[in-house]
Amino acid sequence: MKLLIINGPNLNLLGKRQPEIYGSTTFEQFFADLQFHFQEIELASFQSNVEGELINKLHEAQEENFDGVIINPGAYTHTSLAIADAVSSIETAVVEVHISNVMDREEIRHISMISKNAAGTIAGFGLDGYKLAIQSFLNMRDK
Ligand code: DQA
Repeated sequence: MKLLIINGPNLNLLGKRQPEIYGSTTFEQFFADLQFHFQEIELASFQSNVEGELINKLHEAQEENFDGVIINPGAYTHTSLAIADAVSSIETAVVEVHISNVMDREEIRHISMISKNAAGTIAGFGLDGYKLAIQSFLNMRDK
């Protein structure tokens, strides 16, 4: 199984950015942990602060035959019809992840443009949300 993790704006600062909300682990450190935990899965990751690059990567995920995408669109979650359209334009299943519990934060963060087109949404479990998302793809495969 081949899965792609896409992280949106400001998530390159994980480990440094608001550690009280997002924790003190960098994504690079966490990604090594993920690869160790899921050795049977081919994992790739991509981060960009640029909306169009996130959209291009979603298209590429389909072209490159990924079995699934795990996306944390950052603040674009709440604003980007273009990313929502990209998610619904590809056949590849997409699981939405948020590190923080967005429902327990400002009202603007309660809205997700993405959720309607995602296979599911995981929020509020810190970086473990990415592990839960990978597990959800394994569960879908084994059903
Ligand atoms: C986030 C939540 C968003 O509201 C925020 O803009 C982010 C990160 C999360 O992972 O909790 O950048 O997607």
